[in-house]
Amino acid sequence: MEALHLILGLLLVLRVSAIVPYPNHAIDLVVNEPPSYVRPYVIPDLSGPAVVLINDVIRAPINNESSGGAFSVLQLNAQPYVRSGYGDLFQSPPHYHTRFHETFFCYKGSVTLWANGEARMLTAQDFGSMPTYQNHSYSFTEPDSTLVAFIHPGGFEKFYFNVSAPFNDPTSAPFPPDIHTRFLEQTFEAAIGPKYDVFPIFNNQFSFNFTNGTTNPSLPWHNGNNTAPQDDHEPYYLANNWSPKYLHRAKGRVIQPRVQAAQSAGNFTLSTMVMRRKLANETATEYQFDAPQFFQVLEGVMMIRMVHQTVAMSTGDVAFIPGGTCFQYWSEVAFTKVYFGGSGSSGLSDTLIKQAELWPYAVFPSYIG
Ligand SMILES: *[C@@H]1O[C@H](CO)[C@@H](O)[C@H](O)[C@H]1NC(C)=O
Ligand SMILES: *[C@@H]1O[C@H](CO)[C@@H](O)[C@H](O)[C@H]1NC(C)=O
Ligand SMILES: *[C@@H]1O[C@H](CO)[C@@H](O)[C@H](O)[C@H]1NC(C)=O
Ligand SMILES: *[C@@H]1O[C@H](CO)[C@@H](O)[C@H](O)[C@H]1NC(C)=O
Ligand SMILES: *[C@@H]1O[C@H](CO)[C@@H](O)[C@H](O)[C@H]1NC(C)=O
Ligand SMILES: *[C@@H]1O[C@H](CO)[C@@H](O)[C@H](O)[C@H]1NC(C)=O
Ligand SMILES: *[C@@H]1O[C@H](CO)[C@@H](O)[C@H](O)[C@H]1NC(C)=O
Ligand SMILES: *[C@@H]1O[C@H](CO)[C@@H](O)[C@H](O)[C@H]1NC(C)=O
Repeated sequence: MEALHLILGLLLVLRVSAIVPYPNHAIDLVVNEPPSYVRPYVIPDLSGPAVVLINDVIRAPINNESSGGAFSVLQLNAQPYVRSGYGDLFQSPPHYHTRFHETFFCYKGSVTLWANGEARMLTAQDFGSMPTYQNHSYSFTEPDSTLVAFIHPGGFEKFYFNVSAPFNDPTSAPFPPDIHTRFLEQTFEAAIGPKYDVFPIFNNQFSFNFTNGTTNPSLPWHNGNNTAPQDDHEPYYLANNWSPKYLHRAKGRVIQPRVQAAQSAGNFTLSTMVMRRKLANETATEYQFDAPQFFQVLEGVMMIRMVHQTVAMSTGDVAFIPGGTCFQYWSEVAFTKVYFGGSGSSGLSDTLIKQAELWPYAVFPSYIG
């Protein structure tokens, strides 16, 4: 009888902890793989399950389960293809998606991105947006390259995890530089189509005639300003620091939107932001949004505080903030740059931009205020 009570009691405790989503102090904010349910977390760079597709290693610091279907953030680490992956191509097989709006952020190295008739070589922090039904392909073009793909809605990682081989990385190597994995041609053939929303195209409509990183010298590429089209169906490219920027004067932050409501049909926003060190007499604002938000640190160290825990996030670390969660963030070093965004169109980026002014420079002023 006693034993039965004990068991019932234990079951009750387990049951209660299963229904309370995150009892604040009870969870460790830092995880080593993406959680299988929605909760606040910080995941260190290059952690979590990884798979290898020819030369690219794919990880999903934010996946469909951890974001409740809102969005996925995938990270692809690679060197240029050492041998062909598919047919005679030294790039991803050209394809389009009908449900996924995919974005390409070159975190480092270089990633060439083809979209319909155009292409650009993206270098560090350049950006490309690929709405649904746009034919595209990419390749890695520098020896240590990283692509961060925010994709709306969540779940596209399931394709990569289906068609790739598990990557065993006891050293946390970004990718296996000297091991080349056989392309799983038959698995790939079985996976393409509506199941994972990957539709290959077989005609060669891509240009390979690059001059100074672009196939279209009539449009600026790292030699003039880029602006995003005011619609949600055209692919576009934004060179880092060559698109509109906003100064949040009080906080000393420069926000550079990459996707705003107009380019995503209100489904998500993406920006980069540089921030100065928080002054001794400043307090970090507490934010709370209905929709989930994320951060990835690009340079410096970003402090984040949520569920009563403060974590120093370094380069590559990712934070996921569910809708409704209160959080604060700040820099304690001189210069921090982050990639960030969220679902909907009234998250952190929009809130900051509303309090900011157009600013033609990439960095914050050398004075306070
Ligand atoms: C992603 O999660 C949502 C919500 O749980 C679900 O409806 C959807 O089917 C999932 N997508 C994939 C590709 O698994
Ligand atoms: C994508 O490629 C297909 C097949 O070649 C073509 O019919 C279609 O027009 C292309 N789409 C765009 C947006 O260029
Ligand atoms: C990939 O999907 C196929 C079915 O389409 C399935 O048979 C196979 O087990 C999956 N493989 C992995 C690694 O998920
Ligand atoms: C390649 O691009 C250059 C510069 O835009 C142009 O002058 C040349 O005609 C193009 N070559 C081909 C084969 O299209
Ligand atoms: C390529 O870049 C170089 C150096 O900036 C410049 O002199 C040259 O005019 C550019 N070529 C074209 C076709 O724009
Ligand atoms: C984006 O939002 C629109 C309405 O704002 C909705 O109709 C559409 O389904 C959303 N797209 C995706 C991929 O969820
Ligand atoms: C905060 O400190 C800075 C110098 O560190 C000073 O310039 C600024 O005026 C102070 N702000 C307030 C509100 O006291
Ligand atoms: C780019 O735009 C800024 C304003 O944001 C302007 O000051 C600058 O002159 C422009 N640069 C070029 C090359 O057009």
